[in-house]
Amino acid sequence: MILPQIGEEDVHFFQENGYLQIHHFFSPDEVAELGAALDQTVADKRSRIRGSDSTVSDDYARVFNQMVNLWEDYPVVRKYTFDPRLAEVVRRVSRCRHVRLYHDHALIKPPGQHSKETNWHQDAPYWPMQQVGALSAWIAVDDVTVENGCMQFIPGSHTYGRLAPVPLGTEGASVLKTIAETGVTMEIEPAVMAMEAGGVTFHHGCLFHHATPNRTDRPRRALAIIYIPDYITYDGRWDAGGAKDLEAGKPFTGPQHPILAEDSV
Ligand code: SIN
Ligand code: NI
Repeated sequence: MILPQIGEEDVHFFQENGYLQIHHFFSPDEVAELGAALDQTVADKRSRIRGSDSTVSDDYARVFNQMVNLWEDYPVVRKYTFDPRLAEVVRRVSRCRHVRLYHDHALIKPPGQHSKETNWHQDAPYWPMQQVGALSAWIAVDDVTVENGCMQFIPGSHTYGRLAPVPLGTEGASVLKTIAETGVTMEIEPAVMAMEAGGVTFHHGCLFHHATPNRTDRPRRALAIIYIPDYITYDGRWDAGGAKDLEAGKPFTGPQHPILAEDSV
């Protein structure tokens, strides 16, 4: 495996800021292959959560078409979800011995006037984990700009810890309001994650993040993969990854949560 070119300064940047952006992580051929696979999932009308009739509100659907655990059904998506280079970056920036898969999900922001912003939120409140520290890789499958809904991050906001979950698609709901209500005043200078298709951002589960509505005439496609560092245990709540046989207080194990990168020493 060709190891990703990330150094100690990148690890430090992630720890300080809660995110890392790597342009041109995947080649144009790779991203075209992944894009075709995502288009197939849409053509197949793949359910949001495999084997479940879980539906979402119209407002949520205007934020994105979200499909979880595509790797189980689509070998091409599996190749990217299990990509050892991605997982190794995650392992290094989170300074742990190994990382497991939580789940992947396509996040396809629909185009046009009805497209909605991805409300400012943190991811960690939605995940059934006792500790914080899980993180995501977000692969741009299209070129992303503010116009079609690229991600925006508040550097350093992961240090505020895990706050209440924000209902995505609900007008006005925002983690920025939640934090203001606690009396904390913070600088709101978003880092805008515009990049070409094939670029990847990594973000900590407590980082405040957001995406503008997609005002173009084409969907904005992304594949995000969520990883669990070795020190994290299951908290007993419902698991969007659909995993069975997890025990509260114990690590995530079993075939749905394989180790994707491991320290070799
Ligand atoms: C988005 O793709 O618009 C948001 C992704 C995320 O919330 O992690
Ligand atoms: Ni998120």
